[in-house]
Amino acid sequence: MDFLPEDKRFYGRRHGKKLKSGKLFLMENLLPKIQMPTAENMPKNLNTLFSFKPRALWLEVGFGGGEHLAEQAKRNPDVGIIGAEPFLNGVASLLSHLNGTWGKTANTEQLIENGRTDNVRIYPDDIRHLFDAFSDETFERIFILYPDPWPKARHEDRRFCNPKNLIQLHRLLQKNGQLRIATDVQQYADWAVEQIENSGLFERVNKDVRKPFEDWVSTRYEQKGLKAGRVPTYLVYTPKK
Ligand SMILES: C[S@@+](CC[C@H](N)C(=O)[O-])C[C@H]1O[C@@H](n2cnc3c(N)ncnc32)[C@H](O)[C@@H]1O
Repeated sequence: MDFLPEDKRFYGRRHGKKLKSGKLFLMENLLPKIQMPTAENMPKNLNTLFSFKPRALWLEVGFGGGEHLAEQAKRNPDVGIIGAEPFLNGVASLLSHLNGTWGKTANTEQLIENGRTDNVRIYPDDIRHLFDAFSDETFERIFILYPDPWPKARHEDRRFCNPKNLIQLHRLLQKNGQLRIATDVQQYADWAVEQIENSGLFERVNKDVRKPFEDWVSTRYEQKGLKAGRVPTYLVYTPKK
C-alpha cells in the first residue's frame, strides 16, 4: 500500500486472530453476495445494490464488530445500510450477526438469518476509496462510532473527522440528514467539535452531549470504555445546505 499518498494510507489493523471455520465460511459465501462494488464499478443509483427500493440509505464508517450496524439493519428493514470496515475479523463478526449465529457456529443452511431483510452492503476496506464514487446527498445518516483517536499530535491527519473527510461527509449527506459521532476520548471529542465548527459546514442539533442518540445501540468499544470508567460523548450534526 506504500504507493498510496500518505493521506490515503490506512494505518489501522486489517487482521486479528485466525478466523474459525464458521466465520471463514461466511467470508467465502456470504460476503461476496453483499459486498459493495469497487469505486470503478459503483452504480450511480445505490438503490440498485438492493433487491428492494430502500426508503433511505445510511452509512456506517468503521463498524468494528458490527453490533450497531446489524441491530439498526434489523430495526430498519426499509433502510439500505452500507458499512465499511478494513479489519477483516470485524467484517466476519458482522456477517455472523447477519447470519444470526454470532457466538455460535455459522448456519450453513441459510446465509441471512431467517426473517432478516437483506438490507446491508459491506465494503471490507477503507471508505475513503469510495467517497468520490458516491453522488451528492446520497445518505440520510452517516455514523462514525468510536473512531480511532490517534492521540499523538503528529498523527492528527489520521483522525477520521479531519477537514478533508468533513467536506466529503457534508457533500454526501442529504439536507436535514444526520452525522452521528460517538467517542469516549475527550481529547478527540474536543478536537472533532473544533474541526467541525471551523469547517462551517455543519450545525450541531443535540444539546446534551452526554445523552446517547435516540435509538442508540451500544458498540463493543463503548462497552469496553464504560467498563474502564470512560465517559461517552455523543454528537449529532446536520449539514448546512
Ligand atoms: C476504535 S474502532 C471502533 C469500532 C466500532 N465502531 C465500535 O464502536 O466498536 C474504529 C474502527 O474504525 C475502522 N476504520 C478506521 N478508519 C477507517 C476508514 N477510513 N474506513 C473504514 N473504517 C475505518 C477501524 O478499522 C476500526 O475497526
